[in-house]
Amino acid sequence: MPTIDKQPQRGAPPRPGPGLTPRMLNHAAWVTHDAAQTADFYTRIMGMELASTVFDDHVPSTGHEIPYFHIFFRMGDGSTLAFFEAPGVPPPAESTHPAYDVFNHVALQARDQDEVLQWHQWLTSQGIPVVGPVDHKGLILSIYFHDPSGLRLEITTPLDKEWNRHTDKGYADLKRWVECKQKAQAEGRDVPKALIEMIRTTRRRYEHEHDAD
Ligand SMILES: [Fe+2]
Repeated sequence: MPTIDKQPQRGAPPRPGPGLTPRMLNHAAWVTHDAAQTADFYTRIMGMELASTVFDDHVPSTGHEIPYFHIFFRMGDGSTLAFFEAPGVPPPAESTHPAYDVFNHVALQARDQDEVLQWHQWLTSQGIPVVGPVDHKGLILSIYFHDPSGLRLEITTPLDKEWNRHTDKGYADLKRWVECKQKAQAEGRDVPKALIEMIRTTRRRYEHEHDAD
């Protein structure tokens, strides 16, 4: 039987959770309306391997009678992006706010900053509009673009090798966010306005902390 270390590190506060953590991204999946166009993009433009395909006339997990073609593309670490083309499915509804189009995205990791810039050059040479490179507060360097289905993609590299290990700050920020909402609600204040004030105050404080480094 595998042993699972459920003990938090000495001195670290106990963390919630089952003592299990997913090992890696297996696949993330979206709907495409053109599997051939999607395959061309992910193999020729993104340099990924066509990894696996499935045909079915129903969805095994839910029983929905939606015939489909499922196609997976493999990245350097073995993780995959996957797509379904289902005949006769209408285009998706328009987003109700630009936030959905800006924030919903998938980020793929490049080796280093130089590789991010190589991606920028390659994608641009293929006529793909690219936003960036954007330096996110010294944490990561990223470029943004879209696949043929409109899925927003990011190519990124961490500038801070501890970028995904800022757990204590994460819990503190989450607490600050939740408490700000609850306090504004309890006081009958405008919640988005209270959050914006909190964001600006917090950001100023972080900038001062950086200045002191
Ligand atoms: Fe991102």
